[in-house]
Amino acid sequence: MLESGPKTLQNAMQVKTVTLSNFRNYPDVNVSVGSGKTFLIGENAQGKSNFLEAVELVSTGRSARASQDSELIRWGEPQLSVQVIFERMGVEESVEYRLARQTAARPGQRLLSRQILVNGVSYSFVKALLGHLITVSFQVDDLNLLRGGPKYRRDWIDGVILRVRPTFLDVLQSFAKVISQRNRLLKTICEAKRVTVSDQDQLLAWDKQLARFGSQIIKERMRLLSELLPRAQENQSHLSGRRESLQADYYFKAPEPKEDDSREYGNGVAEDLPPASSMSALLEAEEQEVAQILMRLLKERRREEIARKQSLVGPHRDDISLTLNDSSAVTFASQGQQRSLVLSLKLAELERLTESCGESPVLLLDDVMAELDAGRQRLLMSAVGDNTQTIITTTHLAGFEPSWLEGATIYSVAAGAIEKVTL
Ligand SMILES: Nc1ncnc2c1ncn2[C@@H]1O[C@H](COP(=O)(O)OP(=O)(O)OP(=O)(O)O)[C@@H](O)[C@H]1O
Ligand SMILES: [Mg+2]
Repeated sequence: MLESGPKTLQNAMQVKTVTLSNFRNYPDVNVSVGSGKTFLIGENAQGKSNFLEAVELVSTGRSARASQDSELIRWGEPQLSVQVIFERMGVEESVEYRLARQTAARPGQRLLSRQILVNGVSYSFVKALLGHLITVSFQVDDLNLLRGGPKYRRDWIDGVILRVRPTFLDVLQSFAKVISQRNRLLKTICEAKRVTVSDQDQLLAWDKQLARFGSQIIKERMRLLSELLPRAQENQSHLSGRRESLQADYYFKAPEPKEDDSREYGNGVAEDLPPASSMSALLEAEEQEVAQILMRLLKERRREEIARKQSLVGPHRDDISLTLNDSSAVTFASQGQQRSLVLSLKLAELERLTESCGESPVLLLDDVMAELDAGRQRLLMSAVGDNTQTIITTTHLAGFEPSWLEGATIYSVAAGAIEKVTL
């Protein structure tokens, strides 16, 4: 086992050790993470991002990179485990994620068994992990918040809410079940080419469920966005020398489908959104009122929903619009402005989570410093301060301001092996 860092942080969550067994390209590693900044330096494809992915996995219960969980198990191995021991409010806790391949009943079938351990207690569901180790990750892909489709923005805001309030997962899961069952019914109706009285009753029952869970999701997202916005505005204003004013709005109604439906999940469409009901109008509304609006919209689009065999109204179609000085940031912002905006939003996320955790969450910076100029690096540095544990991956140390390296713990990563480095 490697030595730990020099000092203990105050008011910050702190990872102590990360133990990986057959996770991605790591056969077996046990790393003591420094209390301040820990650098993982290595060439491309050596396992730097994999390491951060493992820490995020036990924090959020999922990997943002893997399309299937089976990808996480080291090739040719039967099972993986990721264990992180950390300190929260000065108390030591442990979270562990185990995944094993199982013998399939049929050829071609892939089965996995999952076990979660939180402070030694075993669970079969990932929700048990939420609300323990809180991380905020910055990665190059964050630019998808502006360049990607609405799903990126929805997933981002939902991800922040889940870390503030883990029970939000129940609402998201209930909503997803409603959408899947409702879509099945729409398909049956469309294929039968007629709507029976029983279909109408069933559809109405699903509409009510959609409106119930949908309105909860919409209200949560609006509430959180309104909390993040002033912080993001301040950051953006600071980064632009007070020249740029950021606005964000939650769009409660999805864009009307155009000729090419895939556009909706393609490039950002914020400027095309009809401002049917936006955040300013709905923030004050009760959940009940939002549910009523959803019921009305469902009624309006019923025919189209049946024809397309899809639920077209609800938070799974919503978007967040982002504007700089009243122009759509997606369409008009320069590359530099987009980088600043993403950094402003992510720092707002860090501040909001610090508030709800009562201490600073653990920061994971995956190869982002190379992307940031000196001004943006300085803003990040001042936000991180001396009181946030930060794990940073990079291919080289050049480009980091010297203050980043003071007292840092440094490791090299090569082909799934991690070694301590003394400068
Ligand atoms: N399940 C797996 N088993 C074994 N190796 C894997 C598995 N999944 C991914 N890898 C390997 O992990 C390596 C990628 O690791 P990672 O993404 O952490 O690289 P990195 O050090 O972050 O590189 P870069 O600097 O390019 O971002 C790839 O070489 C890939 O082949
Ligand atoms: Mg990487």
